[in-house]
Amino acid sequence: MSTVNKAGLEDVVVSTSDICFIDGREGRLIYRGYDVDDLAVQSTFEEVVYLLWYGALPTKKEYDAFYKTLSATATRRLPPKLVALLRGLPKKTTPMEVLRTGVSALSAFDPDDPDNSREAEIRKAMRLTAQMPTLVAAWERIRRGKAPIAPNPKLNLAANFLYMMFGKKPTDLAAKTFDVALILHADHEFNASTFAARVTAATLSDMYSAVTSAIGALKGPLHGGANEQVMAMLEEVGKPERAAAFVEEAFQKKRRIMGFGHRVYQRGDPRARHLMRMSERLGQAAGAPEWYQISQKIHAEVQARKQLLPNVDFYSASVYHVLGIPRDLFTPIFAVSRVCGWTAHVLEQLANNRLIRPRAEYRGPAPRGYVPIDRR
Ligand code: CMC
Repeated sequence: MSTVNKAGLEDVVVSTSDICFIDGREGRLIYRGYDVDDLAVQSTFEEVVYLLWYGALPTKKEYDAFYKTLSATATRRLPPKLVALLRGLPKKTTPMEVLRTGVSALSAFDPDDPDNSREAEIRKAMRLTAQMPTLVAAWERIRRGKAPIAPNPKLNLAANFLYMMFGKKPTDLAAKTFDVALILHADHEFNASTFAARVTAATLSDMYSAVTSAIGALKGPLHGGANEQVMAMLEEVGKPERAAAFVEEAFQKKRRIMGFGHRVYQRGDPRARHLMRMSERLGQAAGAPEWYQISQKIHAEVQARKQLLPNVDFYSASVYHVLGIPRDLFTPIFAVSRVCGWTAHVLEQLANNRLIRPRAEYRGPAPRGYVPIDRR
């Protein structure tokens, strides 16, 4: 038996994959051969979803058919019984808990659920990708005592999400910014949540269980939950001129600064560069430049003192905040995008499956005899 035993499986390659490549040294992120820098500027989220699932960019005809199904009300809407289930949850339930519960419950309503053929799995992936934004937006309204808003098939996934949240069509800049944010979060190789999805899929469980596992893993502050913590930090700092003292104190107290550092990227996260520009532009357009300014100052201080660079979660916080999205929806939004990556990985895992079952290096007590309870 070969023993790798690297804490956190750091740099351990556990499988091959055709979906996503991270060049940690050069700071590049590639989906199926396409640089995310190009996709962020030229593509759309729907096209990226197609790319991740099918391995190639669609022709116009393929795209139109795909887009139509993905944005149809029948694909996006939630079963009324699921909405009733949401209404029954305590209002204090966090959106990530609701998402985890809602996605798990959705499997009960999926007509393809027992069918594990590739075609059925793609239909499940399609429903999950279309319904998760509806679920997040519905909970946001239900917990505030408002009625959920039905999806609008005339809007793309990004614009429709903002529409279902706020009840009015977003500006072109808001919709485009959110669409790019979704593209940037769509996949990221064998990150913790994707690996969790693949481990679950590899037992030949089911797509919904795999995505539910992934949501659970994404929730943690060392993974997707970091963006919410970033916003809490920006609010705590409050003004750009307070950033230096905040960072100084955080390092002194050995506190982690959320939104900085990355296991794979050594020279910066390419997604952060896009989000930084988006944060500046959106903040200016919305008349709320202060969140970008505070972020910039923290960025400069952290980089100067510890050579740590921002990751995807740092500037996404100010972007979402300026879009009017409540802080505890930041991680669910990450999931709304990443579900296309999770499901692409489940499809890939199932196409050539082998149970994922590593070993542990045992360091417990040496073998010893059992002592009956009355003699201990
Ligand atoms: N603030 C302060 N110090 C840090 C940070 C940070 N954000 N990140 C790394 N370090 C330091 C860490 O203290 C350690 O220093 P030393 O060697 O002196 O003890 C060194 O850098 C290496 O850190 P590590 O924890 O061994 O590195 P890792 O590869 O296990 O951690 C990470 C990667 C992302 C968990 C970590 O950088 C971190 O905790 N960042 C803050 C949380 C965060 O932003 N998470 C989002 C990650 S990107 C999106 C996603 O995957 O969801």
